[in-house]
Amino acid sequence: MVYKSPNIIRWNFVLAIVITIFFTSKFSFAKQSKLMGLKMNMIDRCWRPNPEWRKHRQQLVTCSIGYAGKMTNNIGKGLTHYKVTNPNDDPINPQRGTLRYGASVIQGKVWITFKKDMDIKLMKPLLISSFTTIDGRGVNVHVADNACLMISKVTNIIIHNIRIHHCKAQTPGMVMGPNGKVIHLGQVDGDAIRLVTASKIWIDHNTLYDCEDGLLDVTRGSTNVTVSNNWFREQDKVMLLGHDDGYVRDINMKVTVVYNHFGPNCNQRMPRIRHGYAHVANNLYLGWMQYAIGGSMGPSLKSESNLFIAPKVGSKEVTWRKIGHTNGDKWEFHSVRDSFENGASFAVTKGSRVQKPNYNKEQIFQVADVKSVRFLTRSSGAIQCSKTSGC
Ligand SMILES: *[C@@H]1O[C@H](CO)[C@@H](O)[C@H](O)[C@H]1NC(C)=O
Repeated sequence: MVYKSPNIIRWNFVLAIVITIFFTSKFSFAKQSKLMGLKMNMIDRCWRPNPEWRKHRQQLVTCSIGYAGKMTNNIGKGLTHYKVTNPNDDPINPQRGTLRYGASVIQGKVWITFKKDMDIKLMKPLLISSFTTIDGRGVNVHVADNACLMISKVTNIIIHNIRIHHCKAQTPGMVMGPNGKVIHLGQVDGDAIRLVTASKIWIDHNTLYDCEDGLLDVTRGSTNVTVSNNWFREQDKVMLLGHDDGYVRDINMKVTVVYNHFGPNCNQRMPRIRHGYAHVANNLYLGWMQYAIGGSMGPSLKSESNLFIAPKVGSKEVTWRKIGHTNGDKWEFHSVRDSFENGASFAVTKGSRVQKPNYNKEQIFQVADVKSVRFLTRSSGAIQCSKTSGC
């Protein structure tokens, strides 16, 4: 009896400490998340401060901004949850568990995650079906060293938190199509992500570099595209918006380019625009060699609150215009509240009005002051998420 009571006291003491630690850590974590959220850009603030983001992955669809609008068509009734467990690739007869099975064979709404870190070498371009989300959060996924992603004649696609690099040109051949049937695919250039007649596409938090052709091509009547939070580096031709000078359908192309980080060692096309309209806002340009933003065939550009840091040597001018073609010397290049460092300059179109993006209520967002661009783009590219401290 004499020795029992100190034991009880000790037990209560331990319990009290455990409870205190539990509550204070929970409180400080919530507080920390809230503080983190305040410093994040509009997209990240929508999901990253949530320590339970893994449980609520689909919340991401409400976070998109710009021309892609909200991606709510990608979730809801009939959604298939698919986990990639196998990094191998068979382009014609994809095995269950591989990325190609989830992206091309499964039809309807599918949300693709990855079981573990993976290096995926695709044997042919991956043709992604409509209503597919590729969500690489929480793991380190590389699609590299051969064929890469193709988004052709489809809609409602999210590509999130993937590293895509060293993409190579592909010879014609048979491959599983986006409708789950094997098709013949012609010659494909070595781009990281290629859009062909695609719409409502959101490309967020990916790291793209060092490919044979370009990093992102938006072509052949593709529209309603948002390119956000990506890190583009080590590349000659970075981003092409508009197929070729003769492809007039691209006049309806609308692309939002926001919170991306360009550089180091990007040469040109950040982006290069043909025919259509691009709203390029709150991006960080860490140098260029030939130019940062260029175009031909009467493109329209609203460059808003971007930070352009000119290279030490080479061209200080941000823009480039292709001239000498019929209709080729008409363009609307406007710069609004951009910031220029290291002697950077921007040749604007004079004597006309800045074309507004005319976003609807699903697409609209507040462009931040250029002073915060370094901060807002600080975690661009694929991000490392930890099990304990969130994303
Ligand atoms: C693009 O988005 C707008 C606004 O949501 C919509 O009206 C239009 O039909 C879309 N275009 C395509 C080709 O999907």
